Amino acid sequence: MDISLSRSSPTAVEADAIVVLQEEPAEGKIVPRPDLAGPAAALYESSEITGKLLELTLLHGVAGFAAKRVLVAGVGKPGKLTPTQLRRISGAAVRLLKGKGVNTIAFAAESKPDQVALIAEGALLGLWEPDQHKSEPDKKTISTFMVVVSGADPALDAALLQGKVLGEAANLSRDIAVQPPNLLTPLALAARARAMAEANGLSVDVLDQDRMKQLGMGALLGVAQGSAEPPALIVLSYKPSAAKSSAHLGFVGKGVTFDTGGISIKPSDGMEKMKYDMAGAAAVIGTMQAIAQLKPAVQVTALIPTVENMPGGKAQRPSDIVKSLSGKTIEVLNTDAEGRLILADAITYAKQLGCTHLVDVATLTGAIVVALGSHASGMFSNDESLASAWTAASEAGCERMWRMPIFDEYRDQLKSVYADIGNIGGREGGACTAAVFLKEFVGDTPWVHIDNAATAWLDDAKPWMSKGPTAVPIGSFVNLALNWK
Ligand code: BES
Ligand code: ZN
Ligand code: ZN
Repeated sequence: MDISLSRSSPTAVEADAIVVLQEEPAEGKIVPRPDLAGPAAALYESSEITGKLLELTLLHGVAGFAAKRVLVAGVGKPGKLTPTQLRRISGAAVRLLKGKGVNTIAFAAESKPDQVALIAEGALLGLWEPDQHKSEPDKKTISTFMVVVSGADPALDAALLQGKVLGEAANLSRDIAVQPPNLLTPLALAARARAMAEANGLSVDVLDQDRMKQLGMGALLGVAQGSAEPPALIVLSYKPSAAKSSAHLGFVGKGVTFDTGGISIKPSDGMEKMKYDMAGAAAVIGTMQAIAQLKPAVQVTALIPTVENMPGGKAQRPSDIVKSLSGKTIEVLNTDAEGRLILADAITYAKQLGCTHLVDVATLTGAIVVALGSHASGMFSNDESLASAWTAASEAGCERMWRMPIFDEYRDQLKSVYADIGNIGGREGGACTAAVFLKEFVGDTPWVHIDNAATAWLDDAKPWMSKGPTAVPIGSFVNLALNWK
């Protein structure tokens, strides 16, 4: 889909359809948009158009409009429209129009950079479908999407580019996250990351099993040993031409291409969903594509530990003790708590590479799904300044986060009789003990941990987005780097 700005007027722009916004009245009777007051009077009169949030009314051959169709999108009460809602309206409009065989869409926006970016991004997110492996994918597609603005402000062009880059990066991430585990093995994930890096001028280093052995990444390798598929640690680096600060951000993403649980095997019912246990990795790869294209003034290194968690004949057993890269020993009491094991070594390696601030993202626990449902990602942090930068970035990225605690008491739950730490902390506070396990390897480095187990995947399609991977928290990552001070 080609995305551009159009500086023509909403009534003059030529397209198969134009999307226009309609507010609900604060109270009393609806006030129609001036350009629709005459031609759509009957629809307003009959309350077919009410302006309710996400209401979509498709009109054909509207007098005064050059576009063939007008899609009236409700935005709710005056002044209440949030960035998330605007992005959703754009996605929902694209999905509805695509279903009608429309080819070119114009979207009449206010001439504000923020709105332009959200509309462009929302349109791209709405267009994506998980049909990569269908023999006959849906042929209907949108060739052209124009955001209609007035005024010559170059900030509008920059905003369009940012929205487009973010939307495309999110869709790359979704293309990766949706792949089945027979096709997306750890080495296949590394190949995808390498291809993206080479196409976008990032440096890439893929550590193989031998190098990880030499370095002493016993925690990561312990998880990998139950699978016939070799593991990898993917490192992608972005260096700005002129850095604004001496900070070096490390973005770490969990890349378990399939999580059977290992010897602590999961129930078969629902196990198929565990192909998305690399959604953190996919979000980080998409993030690095956006960063390569938008060029923030801060150094960023992405680290993706990737393994398949299988119960093969060489698999690690509950009670095994492994030595992590940090030197700390870990008693593996449950092989299904594998994410924290591979992240521990990736976090230590990130610090060895000189990262000064760390953010990791992982589909880490079922407990976060119980705690928050799918309405927010769990956020944990040991540093107020990084936590508030992340919160601001997540708001700009339309990704809801909810701060969770990392009390010292959770560390007591991780005590092991035989090793420095155990990899599980019992039934209580499972998302928090997982975070505190990671904190053990983070040390004093400012750090944010995001548990996106509930937000990385949509179980049911929404009007604005298909079922499947969401790319969360890609928007927060990209905005954190772009707004770094
Ligand atoms: N990948 C899972 C977490 C998960 C569960 C993600 C459900 C999405 C939906 C993780 O590796 C895992 O299995 N965690 C265990 C930890 C437990 C053994 C302490 C869990 O949450 O049950
Ligand atoms: Zn697991
Ligand atoms: Zn897992």
